Amino acid sequence: MSVPALAASPINERKEKLDRRTARIGVIGLGYVGLPLALLFSEEGFPVTGFDIDPAKVETLNADGSYIVRITPEEIRSARKQGFSATADFSQIALMDAVLICVPTPLNDYHEPDLSFVTKTASSIAPYLWAGQLIVLESTTYPGTTEEVLVPLLEAGNTQSLKVARTAEEEGFYVAFSPEREDPGNDTIARRKIPKVIGGVGPVALEFASALYQTIFDRTVPVSSPAAAEMTKLLENIYRCVNIALVNELKQLCQRMGIDLFEVIDAAKTKPFGFQAFYPGPGLGGHCIPIDPFYLSWKAKQFDFRTRFIELAGEVNIGMPYYVIDRATAALNDRRKALNGSKILVLGLAYKRDIDDLRESPALTIIELLRERGAIVSYNDPFFPTVGRGRHYDLNMQRVPVTSLGDYDAVMIVTDHTTYDYPAIVRESQLVIDTRNATKGIVAGNIVRC
Ligand SMILES: NC(=O)c1ccc[n+]([C@@H]2O[C@H](COP(=O)([O-])OP(=O)(O)OC[C@H]3O[C@@H](n4cnc5c(N)ncnc54)[C@H](O)[C@@H]3O)[C@@H](O)[C@H]2O)c1
Repeated sequence: MSVPALAASPINERKEKLDRRTARIGVIGLGYVGLPLALLFSEEGFPVTGFDIDPAKVETLNADGSYIVRITPEEIRSARKQGFSATADFSQIALMDAVLICVPTPLNDYHEPDLSFVTKTASSIAPYLWAGQLIVLESTTYPGTTEEVLVPLLEAGNTQSLKVARTAEEEGFYVAFSPEREDPGNDTIARRKIPKVIGGVGPVALEFASALYQTIFDRTVPVSSPAAAEMTKLLENIYRCVNIALVNELKQLCQRMGIDLFEVIDAAKTKPFGFQAFYPGPGLGGHCIPIDPFYLSWKAKQFDFRTRFIELAGEVNIGMPYYVIDRATAALNDRRKALNGSKILVLGLAYKRDIDDLRESPALTIIELLRERGAIVSYNDPFFPTVGRGRHYDLNMQRVPVTSLGDYDAVMIVTDHTTYDYPAIVRESQLVIDTRNATKGIVAGNIVRC
């Protein structure tokens, strides 16, 4: 497909296309972030094309199917009627007025940023860029990525030698960074009510990106640079990571002191100012909170700076699955049993309640640790009939039903899905290890809360 040889369009012309909902929107990476975003633009009336390198995802979407539990096939079907389609053909980038990049940003085996998905995307789209087009990076990353990594690759790979346009006078494509603020499983806040932070490479990119996002978000929050927007996202996630580590540490202290930390948090959160409740758990999970802070730690080294809060929080949170195992071992010991040889049923694999996302889930580590110590482990999770092999695990297990609970030496609640009948679980089990306070309010001698 040939690249349209367009001169830089005035920003007003771009805005008019947005107002008329005729601007073509491309979303790259149709995962948990990209697909809902593509559907939002489609619902708003825009012609949307989704790009993904996974042929199974492309095929599913183009057959009106969905692979994300909370997105129904009906939603895909209605977007398709609105003109939405998916493709792996990156030459179609040339047809887009705005391109939003939502590809993964994981860590490598050495806990360093793995930007390979972003750099591959940049190289794939660079040949098809045109003057006046807007490219927005949405993937979470360290401050500097947009200007130091993305822009040079887009410029170097562009067949027309186009550069990023930083002012209205310059001809080129526009680039911005706008972080995603998705809270999987939380349906209480409408997506469009979540303010959208935006940092542009220059004022025109900021204006263009703000006009684009104002079509689907009630409020946009412009900041002075892409780096400020990148740092905003990291601050939000580091804030969560550090506070979760704090309550995870206090949970261990409270256990020794015989105090119920959940009761304490419930009391503390009645304070109408200066306190936000965070809850302890079996460890961090998901694609964001366990990963993103280390993007900043890595970048900080370039400035001879150690991010001690992040490292300490990481140390506490990474240790939580080991703490759960210690507590389970002690609870079995109290019943004159060894973990080695015990039958354990793990309830919940997802990294948090009521979602179908397994990434970095502490349940995976807990199962591996239980097995290493000789336990015979089964699991149940309504979202996962099987669990095989991932980046950091190799389990090869099949779901069992939540029945015959008395046959297990212990039932361990790792994810508190709302579909479980907790009173029945407590009634029927010999021992319940509850890592989420899912049994709150139930009084029984066979519950160990940890
Ligand atoms: N999941 C969340 O709750 C959440 C929240 C906020 C921010 N984020 C950030 O959003 C980004 C995306 O996360 P996600 O959860 O949607 O990931 P995901 O793994 O669910 O989806 C990423 C998609 O990108 C595709 N992909 C990978 N490389 C590609 C390429 N070169 N070209 C086209 N497609 C490609 C994958 O096939 C996949 O479908 C990450 O940076 C993440 O940190 C995620």
